[in-house]
Amino acid sequence: MIEFILNNNHVYTDFLATTVLLDFIRSEKRLTGAKEGCREGDCGACTVLIGEIKNRSIVYKSVNSCLMPLGEAHGKHVVTVEGFNQEELSPIQYAIVDEGGTQCGFCTPGFVVSMTGYFLSNKKIDVDDAVESLGGNICRCTGYAGIKRAVEKTVTVYEQTSLKLNHLDKLITAKFIPDYFKTIKKNLEQIRKNGNLRKSNTKYFIGGGTDLYVQQWEELIQSEALFASQEKIPNEILQTKNKIKIGGAATIQQVLESHVIKKHLPSLNKQLELFGSLPIRNRATVAGNIVNASPIGDITNILLALEAKLHLKGKRSGRDLFLREFYKGYKLLDKKRDEIVEWISFQVPSKKILFNFEKISKRTYLDIASVNSTIILEVKKDTITKIGLSAGGVAPIPLHLNKTCEFLIDKLINTENVKAAVEIAMQEISPISDARGSAEYKRLLLRQLFFSHFIKLFPQQINAEELL
Ligand SMILES: Cc1cc2nc3c(=O)[nH]c(=O)nc-3n(C[C@H](O)[C@H](O)[C@H](O)COP(=O)(O)OP(=O)(O)OC[C@H]3O[C@@H](n4cnc5c(N)ncnc54)[C@H](O)[C@@H]3O)c2cc1C
Ligand code: FES
Ligand code: FES
Repeated sequence: MIEFILNNNHVYTDFLATTVLLDFIRSEKRLTGAKEGCREGDCGACTVLIGEIKNRSIVYKSVNSCLMPLGEAHGKHVVTVEGFNQEELSPIQYAIVDEGGTQCGFCTPGFVVSMTGYFLSNKKIDVDDAVESLGGNICRCTGYAGIKRAVEKTVTVYEQTSLKLNHLDKLITAKFIPDYFKTIKKNLEQIRKNGNLRKSNTKYFIGGGTDLYVQQWEELIQSEALFASQEKIPNEILQTKNKIKIGGAATIQQVLESHVIKKHLPSLNKQLELFGSLPIRNRATVAGNIVNASPIGDITNILLALEAKLHLKGKRSGRDLFLREFYKGYKLLDKKRDEIVEWISFQVPSKKILFNFEKISKRTYLDIASVNSTIILEVKKDTITKIGLSAGGVAPIPLHLNKTCEFLIDKLINTENVKAAVEIAMQEISPISDARGSAEYKRLLLRQLFFSHFIKLFPQQINAEELL
């Protein structure tokens, strides 16, 4: 049985754990506030909140219920827009109405859920951050101006509420959420961990499901599957003596928020904001990005340049290998069927490291790269002493540009060497023409991204005009 709390109601169900949460909510529970728009994680009409006990309090995150397996709701609090119903509209709902933030209304429940999720999961409230948290919600009618005004108005209402109350009480007093939210923690504590999710004959292993449920949801909903949480795949991000270790089940949002990552790769969290949207990052795992083996995976691209290693856990034993050795051909991996990515690790970058990630996509936000690239360098007296360089979207696999790196080692940073290096990079890649652009266009993109690394990291030595 899968057991969880849906708004203010206990749910027990023997539905398959792979059932799409959105389908269960709408068809079985007849809660039709969450809408089916794209079913691909793109529109946010299906957004719900998932609350989970962490360090003795409940942490709420927004997710796309169209990509979430029902089994992952076990032991958690699932909140749909109906879960905010009170005698009156909440201040968020009033603000949306008053400021013209809704027209046809199809997107509105998703916006209300994401906005309420922002207030639930942040004690420090800021208008820009609140707007940012709506990045996964798309509206075709309003042009967003009314929605932005609604955010500003709601932040003002929140700020006017007495500061003496704790966060949850403050939100309840201000009527952002109903008072049953106070009882949820106690009720969740009574649910057995992990329940008895079915395990036999599993064909699928699901991390966050953000690739699998887009690519194969029809097969998945008829199949048994294993989940990262059942297999106890770690999700923490740690620093040991000289290594940074990322658990296979860590999400992209965890990487973005990690203190360890912020300390050693300070620009990475800003750059990871270009990865999907908040609800996608809340579910998408690092290992899922690696094993999905898309040539344009963003975190894979970054980890390749960092010379990351994988620890694969099999039924009986484990083994380590470099990430760049993992890819054997298009979607062909050095991985046995029963092997699971348990840890991803890389050397703690030295304090002198220079790091840059570049991604070009058709839209800046909420889009997958056409081409991406990461560079990591150490430089002594204007000479490159260490380099990692990756390129995505320009070959059947995510690439580490070994030959270009070999060329650049011990070279001075100057326009001539950068120009010579890009010619070697052009020989290492083999892009194809597809929906994201022609082979020729992708070559041009990589060339520009490569130049962009050097222009950004060495503004004194590299002059853009001389490169072009
Ligand atoms: C709207 C949208 C936007 C997106 N934007 C981006 C983007 O900007 N950049 C980007 O790179 N990607 C993006 N993606 C793709 C996707 O979110 C990522 O590839 C994500 O990291 C996949 O992780 P997951 O846990 O959801 O994988 P899943 O879908 O759960 O699994 C993908 C594959 O990995 C396997 N797998 C998962 N975990 C493990 C493990 N621990 N060990 C072994 N195998 C495992 C699964 O069996 C499956 O084969 C986007 C997807 C969507 C829907
Ligand atoms: S239906 Fe569009 S994101 Fe889920
Ligand atoms: S109000 Fe129509 S899609 Fe947003």
